[in-house]
Amino acid sequence: MSRGVYITTPLYYVNASPHIGHAYTNVISDTLARYFRLEGEEVFFLTGTDEHGQKVKNAALAEGKEVKEFTDNIVDNFIALWRKLNISYDDFIRTTQARHVKVVKEALIRLHKRGDIYLSVYKGFYCMPCESFWLASQLKEGKFCPDCGREVEEVEEKNYFFRLSRYQDWLQRFLKSNPGFIFPDYRYNEVLSFVENSRLSDLCISRPKSRVDWGIEIPFDKNYVTYVWFDALLNYISAAGAFFDEERFSRLWPAEVHFIGKDILRQHAVYWPIMLKALGLEMPKRVVAHGWWLAGEEGKDKISKSKGNVVGPDELIDEFGSDALRFFLLREVPLGLDGKFSRRALILRINSDLSNDWGNLVFRSLNMLAKYFHSRLPEAKKSMPSRYISIHQNLYSQYQKNMKRANFTRALEEVWKLITAANKSIEEEKPWQLYKDKKTDELSYFIYHLFEAIRVACLFLYPFLPSSCRDIYRRFTGKDILTRPLKEAIEWGSLEAGQLIDKGNPLFPRFDVD
Ligand code: ME8
Ligand code: MG
Repeated sequence: MSRGVYITTPLYYVNASPHIGHAYTNVISDTLARYFRLEGEEVFFLTGTDEHGQKVKNAALAEGKEVKEFTDNIVDNFIALWRKLNISYDDFIRTTQARHVKVVKEALIRLHKRGDIYLSVYKGFYCMPCESFWLASQLKEGKFCPDCGREVEEVEEKNYFFRLSRYQDWLQRFLKSNPGFIFPDYRYNEVLSFVENSRLSDLCISRPKSRVDWGIEIPFDKNYVTYVWFDALLNYISAAGAFFDEERFSRLWPAEVHFIGKDILRQHAVYWPIMLKALGLEMPKRVVAHGWWLAGEEGKDKISKSKGNVVGPDELIDEFGSDALRFFLLREVPLGLDGKFSRRALILRINSDLSNDWGNLVFRSLNMLAKYFHSRLPEAKKSMPSRYISIHQNLYSQYQKNMKRANFTRALEEVWKLITAANKSIEEEKPWQLYKDKKTDELSYFIYHLFEAIRVACLFLYPFLPSSCRDIYRRFTGKDILTRPLKEAIEWGSLEAGQLIDKGNPLFPRFDVD
């Protein structure tokens, strides 16, 4: 049976509705998922929500709601946003679902049996916004969370621990022999040096029910629920059928890539591999950690629910469209670095790349076709004009290499070479002059290949601009863009002469910078 390419996003906390940061991770993941489908691969793309723990429960209480009712409502907001952003996930997992709960319990039982889980006293600190345990030595100024900087609470509880320490040497060896496991490289180096230079202490993985009751009960001790991270990380295998559906699991696991933000790298690059190792399961192929979107043009603060500076993706999509917002997020910042989110930057990016370069190319070409050929694509020699030859020859391999590495800004730069060449061809060949001089053969040749360049660019742009590219492709060919695998579909000369191509509306109109 063929393997599916398995791509995941984090499971977002449901204490509040999604903001632009969550949208970013899902847009990235969706772009890769669409890329693999475009190549003809079978994809399994998973997203979902992390619903247990004190933080979520408190948020529900603050609104005077039952937790389940509260979370259902927030989940609806996530789902509505993913629909609006064209996120083509295949499965949506909630940590409150029975299929997930049973896998978490099974994992706890197996690890307990192996002696990897034991009861002891936890004395330390807890950061509720991060749902993370800290030791006194790790705190900032003795009382603040080293990750988010907020004040922690002191806890002293009997709790269950997971023997991370037993696997430190293994993890070190694993990381050393798999430098591609974490992307970008500087994040890999960060994790490796952490694992080499500090002693991993065992991970506290429970909370007493008397303190936190909104969680998954530990199957061998009903006085405890499991701690949020131990619960949430397991979603990646519970959704794939671990322990209970071997056929499905062996088809999907290991995951091709876990996309995350840099804030949750330790959990994914240290805890998670160790959990899998202890369970006797294979490692995912890659963990890709992107940077943060910071608020405003000065961009000093991470956009976050608790900082109250969230940018609502809904309004942005209503105003600019989902393709344009996706494009901005993917094009503005190389994956891994932080980005400054501002309306101004968004508008400048739309105006230059989408209106000026791409939208203008498409609309000008459609106008010429209407004017010179009554919107019917002319017959012409199929041989590729020389201006496109080397660009077309390199584009697929460069694009493929960069897309596979989630190097989206570079992949777009490659596609832009074709768009730029097509725009330049209009200036240089002066089709209006050919028309005036009644040079019909030359004009036909020019127009046919201009449309062919647009069709090919459209294929490459589809993962980034799914809605408009699918539409253009259908108008040009009468077919769905996913009909043929990318490598075949980009074969030059595939457009059928005689095809009537509707002019449609201008693509990506400009916006005023206010
Ligand atoms: O951490 N910029 O959930 P969470 C970019 N439930 N990305 C951002 C962002 C920003 N300003 N803010 C959030 C959790 N994100 C856990 C995960 S996984 C098994 C459990 C994105 O709701 C980014 O992907 O706090 C980040 O890692 C994630 O949202 C954190 O979401
Ligand atoms: Mg968070």
